[in-house]
Amino acid sequence: MTTQLDVAAYAASLVNWSELGHVYVFGNGKGGVGKTTLTCNIGGLAALDGLRTLIIDLNVQGNAAEDLGYVDTAIDDQGQGLLTAFTLQQPLKPVRDIRPNLDIVPGGKLLRRVPGVIGAPTRATERVEAVLSLARILQPIAGEYDLVLIDAPPENEHMMQLALGAARFVAVPVKSDKSSRKKGLQALATDYQAMREYNPYMVLVGVILFATGSQATAIRTKVRNDVTETLGGAAPIFDNFIRHAEAVAVDARERGQLVYELEAAASQNPEFWKVRAGLADASQVVARTSSSVSEDFAVVARELFSRAGGLQQELIAGGIWP
Ligand SMILES: Nc1ncnc2c1ncn2[C@@H]1O[C@H](COP(=O)(O)OP(=O)(O)O)[C@@H](O)[C@H]1O
Ligand SMILES: [Mg+2]
Repeated sequence: MTTQLDVAAYAASLVNWSELGHVYVFGNGKGGVGKTTLTCNIGGLAALDGLRTLIIDLNVQGNAAEDLGYVDTAIDDQGQGLLTAFTLQQPLKPVRDIRPNLDIVPGGKLLRRVPGVIGAPTRATERVEAVLSLARILQPIAGEYDLVLIDAPPENEHMMQLALGAARFVAVPVKSDKSSRKKGLQALATDYQAMREYNPYMVLVGVILFATGSQATAIRTKVRNDVTETLGGAAPIFDNFIRHAEAVAVDARERGQLVYELEAAASQNPEFWKVRAGLADASQVVARTSSSVSEDFAVVARELFSRAGGLQQELIAGGIWP
């Protein structure tokens, strides 16, 4: 006779949830909705504000390297460090000070091997151990940080589950296209529901509109309807959003700079007449809209932490915060 495993109790014997109360994940089952951009820019702003911040890049593509500017440097280990930590189940070893107060666990192509390393155990206890493996290698170092942000990969159920197995707060970026509003949300909702059995303290903070044309009431209404339909109204839509700004996005990844860094660079732009007269290099000119987009990230970050803080207070009051 087999006895039913109490998953939550076994999970709590493996993970000390009280040490992971500051772990956030940006998730949506669809790519291209702003997960990486939000992770890096909000992480960068938090670090700038003095919070000791860790970013974990779980993506095979490793786009965080572009946003943070470490492509093809010694930092860019293609996910080797993370893969080793998973393989040996040993504490993560972040790369220190990629910016002041900001550490990174890089992603990359070696992460393709992670699902193989973790496997697909059939025994119930081993299954719990597997889905909580990121939580378990993060936990020993989580206390070194005020904030941990996980950039979760889309269309990769395994890695998404690992992220949701370690996170306390889930924020969902969406673009205005139907696919990210519907299919992407649906995929996330399925993983979220499944993972709550393992990680009972995880909460949905809300939905963040990314790269949207304007305040566009019509789009907000559509997003609200889709979110209500797909997630059962479980997540509010943020009041603030990240505006669409192609030039800023291109400059950011080409230069490997965060948007607030671009804003600072734009203030050093050569005069317009010098560029026209061929006296200054046009490629040195940085998009001036970086200043408004930088403000968008700042207000979205503020809203994220204020909503999460509010939820935390409610949960503490309700006795459901570990
Ligand atoms: N404000 C913006 N407006 C338009 N496009 C943006 C903006 N910020 C970033 N992008 C671009 O949007 C694309 C998707 O963003 P990304 O963060 O990589 O999404 P995800 O991580 O969800 O796949 C990238 O090419 C990025 O450069
Ligand atoms: Mg990404």
